[in-house]
Amino acid sequence: MTEETLNGTMPPVRSWPTPELTGVDFDPVLAELMHKGPVTRIELPDGSGWAWLVTGYDDVRAVANDPRFSREAVVDHRVTGLPAHFVPRPGAVDFLDPPDHTRLRRSVAPAFTARGVDRVREKSRMLLDELVDELLQDGPPADLSAALLGPFPIAVISELMGVPAADRQNMHTWTQLVLSSSPGARTGEKAEEEMRACFADLVGLRQGSTGEDVTSLLGAAVGQGEVTLDEAVGLAVLLQMGGEAVTANSGQLFFILLTRPELAARLRADPEIRPQAVDELLRYIPHHNPVGLSRIATEDVEIQGVRIRAGEAVYVSYLAANRDPGIFLDPEAIDFARYPNSHVAFGFGPHCCPGGMLARLEAALLVDALLDRMPKLRLAVPPDQVPFKQGMLIRGPEALPVTW
Ligand code: HEM
Repeated sequence: MTEETLNGTMPPVRSWPTPELTGVDFDPVLAELMHKGPVTRIELPDGSGWAWLVTGYDDVRAVANDPRFSREAVVDHRVTGLPAHFVPRPGAVDFLDPPDHTRLRRSVAPAFTARGVDRVREKSRMLLDELVDELLQDGPPADLSAALLGPFPIAVISELMGVPAADRQNMHTWTQLVLSSSPGARTGEKAEEEMRACFADLVGLRQGSTGEDVTSLLGAAVGQGEVTLDEAVGLAVLLQMGGEAVTANSGQLFFILLTRPELAARLRADPEIRPQAVDELLRYIPHHNPVGLSRIATEDVEIQGVRIRAGEAVYVSYLAANRDPGIFLDPEAIDFARYPNSHVAFGFGPHCCPGGMLARLEAALLVDALLDRMPKLRLAVPPDQVPFKQGMLIRGPEALPVTW
């Protein structure tokens, strides 16, 4: 890559070792990079060179929404994120640019709007109530992750996708194998192949369907020639796996509420503020390790006096943008009254998370159920003994031991 900026100085390349972070600690290397400037450079995780890192809120949104930064081009550039074996699949929704990206996202969009998500609200509430009933029946102590925060999002995303109950456990196992960096590349690939085969059957059976679940929408789109079966299956796999992001995210959310009882007390006392509070927690939660997926500049672009040249890789950090002090007053504080709160926890631009409404619904249902039905809920171990996942793309507790 050519090293040149408009003013002639290049920021040094900073290595970013995979951090072993626990709790909701903000990555200290990212904090340092934010401090160094809105546009810095990082060493790529696979040792293949360096990439730009954009951390300021306005610049993050500008890059994420600028068609001159391509996702499709990443496929030919071997720019990897974490885990290293999670390689780009050509034609997958996260590695496509408009118009194909728009066409694919449009095929499932109705399922992810406020109305689409509302379709599964009551069923989700019932499913959660049953899980809480079981938890209360079994009595304390319990692992909140194993008992609730794992099974609930799987049930909800499966419901929205139209995955039959018999296939749900397999879906979960395959997702974990694909997303984990530990079992090795071949295991992850095999799991993904099996998941694809399962979705190929489900979508194939629903061609011509008028159902509102995601596999029916995809079946209909395939039937009408709007998307290919291969595209539909790839999208279904990503949506199903994405659904499990809520487990880790809500694990962090409850870790915060259980270690900061004054915040939980506020939410118990004033249920009206819960939707706003969920958004503030989403802003604050460090959802993932280092950075997500990069983009490649398709022409020279200037950001903050730095010239990014055609062919160079750029990462945006939504985590950093959510802590930009120029946008969020006292960004390190959790302020349930924060308004406005235009956080980018779900990304920005065409690739922004399709699951944002669903994730908010699940977090709101979990907060209602756990705070209202378990008034004495608390951690069963000291906070520093809560185990956190290592080596995963998405951060969260391995287990959340609680009592009540
Ligand atoms: C993409 C966050 C839940 C499916 C993303 C992106 C972020 C994100 C930051 C990347 C945006 C970009 O590339 O610029 C989150 C958070 C979640 C969550 C914080 C939970 C609290 C979900 C759920 C689903 C999902 C529930 C499934 C319904 C996806 C998919 C993409 C994505 C398929 C790729 C979209 C594309 O490239 O067009 N998410 N997500 N996520 N998310 Fe989520």
